[in-house]
Amino acid sequence: MQIHLFDTSQQVGQAAAMLIAAQILQKPDSVLGLATGSTPIPTYQELIRLNRDGVVDFSRVTSFNLDEYCGLPVEHECSYHSFMHEQLFSHINIDLAHTHVPDGNAVDQQAECARYDMAINQAGGIDVQILGIGRNGHIGFNEPSDTFVYGCHIVNLTQSTIAANRRFFESEDAVPRQAISLGIGSIMNARQIILLATGSDKADAIHRAIRQDITPRTQASILRTHPNVLFLLDKAAAGLL
Ligand code: PGA
Repeated sequence: MQIHLFDTSQQVGQAAAMLIAAQILQKPDSVLGLATGSTPIPTYQELIRLNRDGVVDFSRVTSFNLDEYCGLPVEHECSYHSFMHEQLFSHINIDLAHTHVPDGNAVDQQAECARYDMAINQAGGIDVQILGIGRNGHIGFNEPSDTFVYGCHIVNLTQSTIAANRRFFESEDAVPRQAISLGIGSIMNARQIILLATGSDKADAIHRAIRQDITPRTQASILRTHPNVLFLLDKAAAGLL
């Protein structure tokens, strides 16, 4: 486990983008695990710049997103499909056929979960997984629980996550109550994991993930057992370490 501290969230984004860029330079057909949320936006902005400047070529890259809301049309402005298009995919030369976000509207949800895990395996597994962290320590939508769930699964969102994500929606009632998420096993199978955390509202989750017991009550704590994990933190997120 490596922990890197930075002064600003912008620097966290630059560092993450440099690591992803290095990965793509070394393996042009890399498989990236991508995350949504506010935290990775500076990373995506830096990757867009590197792509525009001709430094990083995404034409052979494949991506798999961590999660998606259930019951939200993909064209809804708050869907993670929309987020990825707006924040990254429409600005870089990635082949959209090689980008994957789980289907939160599948009629057969269990089949969709199995299909998504299988698609990652068939692509050769994830080379680099980018993660944010919830205030409750979640990664993807793996919420605090009595267990770690291995594979892609349907999650009932906790009140804490609904409240945190309410800022993107018109009202709290409009926030979906369920999501489809990669499981902890699917995340831990990535060859490298880069967790990004910025802002003082993540300080408690980071402290619990890094310094306290490894427990499914803080799902991110399991990351410490991964052989190649980096925590890129700004000073505010590292404030309780
Ligand atoms: P955020 O979300 O980047 O918007 O804070 C992170 C998460 O909930 O995993």
